[in-house]
Amino acid sequence: MSCDLLIVGGEGDLALRKLYPALYSLWVVGCLPEDIRIFGMARRHMTQDEFLSRVREWFDKRKSAREFEEQAWAGFSARLTYCSLDATDVASLHTLREEHLDDDGRDLVVYLATPPGIFGPVCQAIHGAGLARANARIVVEKPLGEDRASFLEINEQLTRVFEERQVYRIDHYLGKETVQNLLALRFANTFLEPLWNNKYIDNVQITVAESIGVSGRWSFYDDAGALRDMVQNHLLQLVCLAAMEPPAHLESTAVRNEKMKVLSSLRPLDAETIRDDFVIGQYTAGNVDGESVPGYCEEEGAEPKSDTETFIAIKAHIDNWRWAGVPFYLRTGKRLRERFSEIVVEFKQVPHAIFPDQYLLDAPNRLIIRVQPEETISLQLMNKVAGLDVKTPLRSVTMDLSFPEENEPGSTPDAYQRLLLDVIRENPTLFVRADEVEEAWKWVDGIREVWQSTRKRPERYPAGSGGPTGAIEMVARDGRRWREYD
Ligand code: BG6
Repeated sequence: MSCDLLIVGGEGDLALRKLYPALYSLWVVGCLPEDIRIFGMARRHMTQDEFLSRVREWFDKRKSAREFEEQAWAGFSARLTYCSLDATDVASLHTLREEHLDDDGRDLVVYLATPPGIFGPVCQAIHGAGLARANARIVVEKPLGEDRASFLEINEQLTRVFEERQVYRIDHYLGKETVQNLLALRFANTFLEPLWNNKYIDNVQITVAESIGVSGRWSFYDDAGALRDMVQNHLLQLVCLAAMEPPAHLESTAVRNEKMKVLSSLRPLDAETIRDDFVIGQYTAGNVDGESVPGYCEEEGAEPKSDTETFIAIKAHIDNWRWAGVPFYLRTGKRLRERFSEIVVEFKQVPHAIFPDQYLLDAPNRLIIRVQPEETISLQLMNKVAGLDVKTPLRSVTMDLSFPEENEPGSTPDAYQRLLLDVIRENPTLFVRADEVEEAWKWVDGIREVWQSTRKRPERYPAGSGGPTGAIEMVARDGRRWREYD
């Protein structure tokens, strides 16, 4: 299959930091079509050599520069072309088409690595230049709106030109290796499925904890906050994969239909749940990894009185047969003690304890799917302590279900490698359909509306801590605790 890839915003942060390195890694392992052509498009004037050295610079900055090989780079960079053109201008795209993209038989992937404000004009220009052909695909990434209404507007601009089957909405969490492994674990094994319901599962905890702050994008973040920046997309996608019914097959429609059912079963939060089951926080100055860091309102470009949440914890419910009564505790925050993302499935206690002190141990069986920094899956089980003690003492042991070589950092593909490859191969399964995004916004909009009416304000937590104590109390009120407080 022959394919051309046009990256609009081709000298921006996303392209340089994520897209070119991922494409290069795919090239190195021979996964890209040999005749692929990659066009980086941006308005800034730059020579081809300048462009290549900017792309190359990022490899040198990356820790995984060890995979860099001069020979592979020579082959890869020969496929890269910089086009200093305005993507919102039809005439510019006509020029591009005439000079490079005139072979309609080649697939065309257009990656909009730009803010959504220009999606509409770019799509119109692509259409005007005759590039929105049947074998074209368009890739977009969050933020896809700031609420349901603005998402629908953005989506309308895309779908005016492209059919839904041509639109690939990236949520990079779906490209992460362990996230996909969750599907394999659930649906390629028999032993979990009979237990995967409210009869045996006590609660599910989904955490995306970050130690970084707002990384120089204070104003963007201040408009979004953790609910819209992380929960609406990444966390809800993880909820979907953990909670969905087994799809009939792996084809995208079947998978997305099942995810959609989860999203539409999320219980809306009312004023009472916002008070008790919803915690927001904002970091103050503190110490992360031995370094002093400023508080959120003292970051560069910050406004001193912002009440934007940099942490959020929600007790969510999925109102269906499988999950009735099982809380899904969701939590994400910035400037926390440690960076880790995980899904913890906590099982109920045995119905009848026959070992002395078994209940006192209070160590439930847990399946822990660690998404980052390590990518591991482990199972916590009760085990007998070896020896002749007549009381048969027990202890909780952790079994590692992942292969050791998979635990080595850098040995699994980056999310963007997986996702770019899927777009090139025309496989939309790991991309988010419009109705999913809309449904996720509906839930989030509902929360924001009630939250604003209650005027709840964020609880302050020091940078480098475990987050607001309210999040610990929320779970403790249910007689439970977050896994790391074991
Ligand atoms: C992005 C958010 O979507 O995901 C960022 O906008 C966040 O605020 C990032 O830092 C987290 O991604 P990852 O892959 O580093 O966990």
